[in-house]
Amino acid sequence: MPLLGPLTETIGVLLRHCSIRKYKPNPIPDEWLDAIVSAAQAASSSSHMQAYTIIAVTNDVTRSKLGELCGEANRTFMVQCPLFLVWCADLNRLDAVVEEAAGLQVPADIEHLLIASVDTALAAQNAALAAESLGLGIVYVGGIRNHPAGVSKLLGLPRLTFPLFGMSIGFPDENPLQRPRLPRSVVFHEGRYDAGAWKEDIVEYDSEHSRYTNERSGGHSSISWTGRMADRIANSRSGFATFLKDQGFRL
Ligand SMILES: Cc1cc2nc3c(=O)[nH]c(=O)nc-3n(C[C@H](O)[C@H](O)[C@H](O)COP(=O)(O)O)c2cc1C
Repeated sequence: MPLLGPLTETIGVLLRHCSIRKYKPNPIPDEWLDAIVSAAQAASSSSHMQAYTIIAVTNDVTRSKLGELCGEANRTFMVQCPLFLVWCADLNRLDAVVEEAAGLQVPADIEHLLIASVDTALAAQNAALAAESLGLGIVYVGGIRNHPAGVSKLLGLPRLTFPLFGMSIGFPDENPLQRPRLPRSVVFHEGRYDAGAWKEDIVEYDSEHSRYTNERSGGHSSISWTGRMADRIANSRSGFATFLKDQGFRL
């Protein structure tokens, strides 16, 4: 990523980010995992609810079953990585705590679903940054929501929890080209929302993205960002709301 503004060590790590999907077999030292989890727990949390649980999937058979549930594109690197974490949004613990303390129930509504999802994502991104600062590579795995009921059964997730995403972590065994980001003018507006901000700049971004895809795929594809987004939206996951209702959420 191009740098605007001052460079610190942390900003340097952030700007070098690139998802890694191929890992060396070396295990991650236990104390590195400790540091990664500590970094996750240091994240800000809505009302300090800390509404997440991290599951390190250590058993090979479970990992392999999980890989199958997350789809063919993810299976290989999920099984191969030395550390796989499942990040669960978790209102179950809070519900039990307030029930015992005051006879209350956590309202499992959209507000609390958002609180738990945001808490989980903030902790996960802290962990990702910590891992990358140690020279490890990571990739998020939203594929964990392809079959959320199967994942929940496999990992024993109780009501008022759900798997938000997985994360593969390991020593990088590839050095992919970084994906270009949207121009700053598109995502950063001053004063008020500028509905037309993206229209012109997106044309050049699409060309840049086409060149990037072409280079990264060795000439197999040169899809623009717009084209890729249309493809992704046409093939969106569905059915998650039904699963959430089964987990006790009121949507
Ligand atoms: C919540 C979330 C879910 C993701 N799920 C997947 C996934 O299932 N499989 C995968 O290969 N990459 C996945 N990614 C990685 C994105 O594709 C990647 O971050 C994005 O294309 C930008 O590329 P970069 O991380 O290399 O800069 C996911 C990223 C996020 C934030």
